Amino acid sequence: MIYLDNAATTVRKPPQVIDAVVRAMGSFGNSARGTHEGALTASRTIYDARGKIAALFGCPRADHVAFTANSTEALNIAISGLVRAGDRVLSTDLEHNSVLRPLYRLRDERGVALDFVPADRQGSIDYADFERLLHPDTRAVVCTHASNLTGNAVDLARVGALAHAHGALFIVDASQSAGVLPIDMEQMHIDALCFTGHKSLMGPQGTGGLCLRGELDILPWKVGGTGVQTYSERQPEQLPVRLEAGTLNGHGIAGLSAALDFINEVGIETIHAHETALMRRFYEGVRALPNVQVYGDFARERAAVVVLNIGDCDSGEVADALAEDYGIATRSGAHCAPRLHRALGTEGQGAVRFSFGWYNTEAETDAAIRAVEELAR
Ligand code: ALA
Repeated sequence: MIYLDNAATTVRKPPQVIDAVVRAMGSFGNSARGTHEGALTASRTIYDARGKIAALFGCPRADHVAFTANSTEALNIAISGLVRAGDRVLSTDLEHNSVLRPLYRLRDERGVALDFVPADRQGSIDYADFERLLHPDTRAVVCTHASNLTGNAVDLARVGALAHAHGALFIVDASQSAGVLPIDMEQMHIDALCFTGHKSLMGPQGTGGLCLRGELDILPWKVGGTGVQTYSERQPEQLPVRLEAGTLNGHGIAGLSAALDFINEVGIETIHAHETALMRRFYEGVRALPNVQVYGDFARERAAVVVLNIGDCDSGEVADALAEDYGIATRSGAHCAPRLHRALGTEGQGAVRFSFGWYNTEAETDAAIRAVEELAR
């Protein structure tokens, strides 16, 4: 199988990630719930991982990194914990349902007003629209770093500066960029950064988190056991336990920690350069093929994604043919990105997404180009 669905999950992981999970499963007790060796090993590993995440994203404090099951959970915590009834939120057409559905729920349940920066038919946005749509009562700007559908990246420093100039919080969905595009919460004015572990961070599924830059008045999304302040009827105020009720996925976090070591060893610039080279090679190979329509802005920095359609073929049928006849794994359909599909005009057809990762090769990329060429013919 030629695996080109890394934007959904990276299947090939560094071997030390798998080793770390297996070791943790045979040795970890419950973090922060005991003083015996197994519990302490779990606690130390998890705190170590917080430090590595904070360093990678420029989060000023390791204890402001709360672990979650994925970026969807982190986004639910950030959005529902920071936005209050009657507030206004500005987001974009690029967003995944992990941003959109929490926002629509706040609109329906708390009367939150929503504004969206529109995308054009290549999935690009105009930064002047942020300025135009920021209102005095805008409480937060919620924005992806890179579209999971087109790979188009957003200039976070620019949006963050605009958000702060208007007194709004800046919440970022880094699902498609963490571990591969540089992120600096300070320099980009990010108040809350949501990430997942199983994509370009190359960690296990069931890992992710939320990094908070400052002392924010954030309400917990779930409450329960924390191992501290047991006699309090309320969730403890201190981070990260305020946002981490229940046993953490210590086994997964051990794997994520090993993945962070791997990324630091290789360097995110090297990983980004490799993925970008393959993505551009593929783009150059398919963009001019008759009957092939590629979407997205390839003139700027972007995630390693190429999304396309072949004539008016259903994207699911094309992805099935790629998998069954060529052994190539892609993702088709709507990609949980309804507003962007409408903007691209692909609501009915969907699109076929090829997403490249660290373990892909030029030979795999060329095989994918040949497959698209044949199918288009
Ligand atoms: N959000 C993931 C994707 O884009 C699953 O495929």
